[in-house]
Amino acid sequence: MYTVDINKENPIILGIETSCDETAAAVICGRKILSDEIASSANIQALYGGVVPEIASRAHTDAVSLVVENAVKKAGITYADIDAVAVTYGAGLLGALLVGVSFAKAFAYAIKKPLIAVNHIRGHLAAAYLSDTALKPPFITLLASGGHTAILHTKTESEFAILGGTLDDAVGEAFDKVARVLGLQYPGGPNIERCALGGKNVVPMPKMFKGGGGYNFSYSGLKTAVINYCHTKEQKGEPYEKADVAKSFECAAVDVLVEKTVAAAKETGVKTVTAGGGVVANTYLRQSLAAACKKNGFKLVLPEKRYCTDNAAMIAAEGLTQFKLGNFADLRLNAKASIPLSKTLS
Ligand code: KG4
Ligand code: ZN
Repeated sequence: MYTVDINKENPIILGIETSCDETAAAVICGRKILSDEIASSANIQALYGGVVPEIASRAHTDAVSLVVENAVKKAGITYADIDAVAVTYGAGLLGALLVGVSFAKAFAYAIKKPLIAVNHIRGHLAAAYLSDTALKPPFITLLASGGHTAILHTKTESEFAILGGTLDDAVGEAFDKVARVLGLQYPGGPNIERCALGGKNVVPMPKMFKGGGGYNFSYSGLKTAVINYCHTKEQKGEPYEKADVAKSFECAAVDVLVEKTVAAAKETGVKTVTAGGGVVANTYLRQSLAAACKKNGFKLVLPEKRYCTDNAAMIAAEGLTQFKLGNFADLRLNAKASIPLSKTLS
């Protein structure tokens, strides 16, 4: 058993994340990041055009203890200094999650410290706390990852309302699928961004619910429009500029996110906007959101790019919130492949 002081001012939290193809561990002290380690199997996964769950699980098994050891070493602390071990228990690839959860349970038991179960999505939301240590709710959050696209109203550190979300594909999923059509490697988002650099926004794209649909999104029509455009050109033997397709897609996918996020802040009267999830690493999105927030007088808090995509510092950051609430897990904790967004936030 352990003793724990949930009122400790700056607890030291070890975060562990293995929900997809990144084996990550990080140590934070309060909201300050002391270390942040990532071993990725993305290079191997790229050979297969996407994440192969069994390969991810094996890579986690090989990497997890060294990644955790390095995170603790680089933080300049000893195991005894750790106040709690926070681990992603869902959502994600079941086998991959199980590696992190099993490791974290054994590790927390061995060092006699409490275990905290972290929902991956709440980790993405908590990443903003690491960018601005004074950040406090209320704020409007744009969540844009490979599995989720939503606009949330964060009312307190533990209470959220979903204002809207995608009705079909997530925006990151659309980036990945369009990348494949354009012959770009996994992961699609950063490669579309690179390809779009020299391109022009000249290829017609569907309207994307702009100015309609409440705060909801639909990305399957956009993906299909790109597929149809490329296939039609190929069938007719007409050349097309991949860079223009990438740029036009990027603008259509991002502009609607920015427009609706700002509209939500206006409607709710909330003055601060944050964002999280892999797609928030996109430079065009970051610049557009910054410009729109500036124009409308909202404060914008964006996680650094490396804390938008999967990482363990965000898991430790959400662990900190749960620590303060006294929400600890016991050693029966199990991994969960899927958790509906509404359950994430309750
Ligand atoms: O949050 P994340 O790392 O994992 C999930 O929880 O899903 O998000 C991964 C998604 C992928 O779809 C990836 O293509 C996208 O984020 N992504 C990007 C960029 N970097 C990652 N999308 C657009 N531009 C980027 N620079
Ligand atoms: Zn993620």
